[in-house]
Amino acid sequence: MIAVEQLNDKQLAQLIGTDKYDEELRRRALALRRKIYGNKIFVRGLIEFTNYCKNNCYYCGIRCGNNKAVRYRLTQQEILDCCHKGYDLGFRTFVLQGGEDRYFSDEILVPVVAEIRQTFPDVAITLSVGERSEESYQHLFQAGADRYLLRHETADEEHFAKLHPAQQQLSTRIACLNVLKKIGYVVGSGFMVGSPYQTADTLVKDIRFLQTLQPEMIGIGPFIKHKDTPFNDMANGDLQLTLRLLAILRILFPYALIPATTALATLADNGRELGMQYGANVLMPNLSPQAIRNKYSLYDNKVYNGDESAEQLAGLKSRMAQAGWEIVTDRGDPKRRV
Ligand code: 5AD
Repeated sequence: MIAVEQLNDKQLAQLIGTDKYDEELRRRALALRRKIYGNKIFVRGLIEFTNYCKNNCYYCGIRCGNNKAVRYRLTQQEILDCCHKGYDLGFRTFVLQGGEDRYFSDEILVPVVAEIRQTFPDVAITLSVGERSEESYQHLFQAGADRYLLRHETADEEHFAKLHPAQQQLSTRIACLNVLKKIGYVVGSGFMVGSPYQTADTLVKDIRFLQTLQPEMIGIGPFIKHKDTPFNDMANGDLQLTLRLLAILRILFPYALIPATTALATLADNGRELGMQYGANVLMPNLSPQAIRNKYSLYDNKVYNGDESAEQLAGLKSRMAQAGWEIVTDRGDPKRRV
């Protein structure tokens, strides 16, 4: 049996580069996931509340340089309506995700969080709105946000510079993650699998970075090209590599909350089920208003109907039940090592 925890960087890179051990990794990851989280799947209602973004990441469809993107932002009332709908469906975590939209200053965003907190005292509020000041993270936390998702995207400086314009810096991203931890957020980070110029060595750095940060949540999904970005010609991430990394992450982070992401479900019809088999324990159906769902287009063919749609939670529940999983109505807080 491979002791993933004990591999040095070179050995870990080799493990990432071969499919030889995938079955063994899958079995171990699944066993750990079952031991700690049983057959439970936690769900999060994802509210994509703005697709305006001041950043220009080369891989992302809502980059500011994409003038073909049709922009929208939800009002406070529209966001609250999504939460009411989600609460009735059984969601106890709302994820407010958006581009880095200057309109949502603290003056606008803090009252949104505060109102959700007041209206739904028993839900977890997760924010995913990118890099902000320490002061801003603090205000949002005080208003009632519990968790924060901010992927580091790649822990290798040179690789980071190939994915982002010079104004964006890995060091800033890491500083934000450290501040979020310090404030007391439950923190999530992660990266795309198969992003252009990624290598087994940069992936080892990603894993080492996560081992230092020790986030409670880890989000990974395949890179998928978007036609209106500089990476429109690049190859999509590989399904099997994504699954292998899910398993490796579950083995190294037995307690982590790890979603089977929308990108994974976009790459493969049974991506959610496969993700669960390789150690994932979270799903994040889309709770945004139907009319704008196709506008939050990070990559081509992003799925937002059927099992990816919050309204279809009952269907998702029964399909997951057939595979032996139980979707629960629960905040789905991380369990911690005792
Ligand atoms: N393919 C896959 N994932 C993407 N993201 C952005 N663009 C793409 C893409 N083309 C991911 C990034 C970001 C998250 C919200 O979506 O990792 O952090």
